[in-house]
Amino acid sequence: MMKIKEIKAKHLNTEKFIEEKVLEIRQAVGGGLAVNALSGGVDSSVVTALGHKALGKRLKTYFIDNGIMRQNEPVMVAAQFKKMGIHVEVLDSSKAFFSALKGITDPEEKREAITQTFYKKIFRGLVVKSKARHLLQGTILTDIDETVAGIKRQHNVFEQLGIDPQAAFGYKILEPLIQLRKDGVRKLGRALGLPDSIFNRIPFPGPALAARVIGEVTPAKIHIVRKATLITESELANTRAFQYMAILHADRVTGLRDNKRVFGNQIEIRCWNSLDARTASPTRLSFKVLEKISGRIIKEIPEVVSVTYHIATKPPSTIEAV
Ligand code: XMP
Repeated sequence: MMKIKEIKAKHLNTEKFIEEKVLEIRQAVGGGLAVNALSGGVDSSVVTALGHKALGKRLKTYFIDNGIMRQNEPVMVAAQFKKMGIHVEVLDSSKAFFSALKGITDPEEKREAITQTFYKKIFRGLVVKSKARHLLQGTILTDIDETVAGIKRQHNVFEQLGIDPQAAFGYKILEPLIQLRKDGVRKLGRALGLPDSIFNRIPFPGPALAARVIGEVTPAKIHIVRKATLITESELANTRAFQYMAILHADRVTGLRDNKRVFGNQIEIRCWNSLDARTASPTRLSFKVLEKISGRIIKEIPEVVSVTYHIATKPPSTIEAV
């Protein structure tokens, strides 16, 4: 593999970098079209802003709504970019994702179903339909390291799209952030005028709320965990913890609703202290804060009768439950 020359954040001259990359992207794309998928995460947001600076309307940006995002996420992300003069097309693909997830309970199989649906079904269709010859990707140096170390699955987009690059001659992937790490990407994003709200968010996993539902992922379960997530994120926003979340358990527990015994759902709250997500410990939330979250969840989500707080460290626990 070709050695990639790292640019450390402290050495990154954003003005010069933007100028160079804009030129490179323009030269590569020529008079044609390019396409990219925006998730709202830092890397894809920065590559979207950079790509539009280079290509304007000749870059088609899609936000693929997989139906397992947080409350209002697609609308919020599209609105954020609209303010910057960038049109993002939101594509409702929730049916495809829920049908791919149907009946699957194994965590890795769930992740695989989401990846396959994204690349092979939805994004591949878009790339082919758009007639774009270039894909813009927010791959960063850490992704390459993790691929080489076998931590992440191969980042070969052609393969993931089910495209034989030879047969589809002409398709090119542009990865303008590949020399940077996260801190460099943040610095670049600020220089490109992206709002702070994009950088201030806590980490959120690619498989989205499917990583927060133990067992089979259904629209009904996503509905419950989405509401619990909204409550948890708003109540814990001031903790400055590394990451916090609500998880929907597969087990049911007995509860009482309107003086009747019901077999209800159980939500688990997690709130982590961590530097790099490799190790983590639970935050010592005050009982008052915990009671507030629990009170809101059982009041606002009638399907839930039990709320617990996770107190084990990572390892052996992991940050997500799936
Ligand atoms: P774990 O659960 O492995 O998580 O302790 C470590 C960090 O990675 C995030 N995470 C993921 N991110 N795809 C992602 O893009 C995934 O499948 C995934 N699983 C976990 C998690 O939110 C935490 O910040």
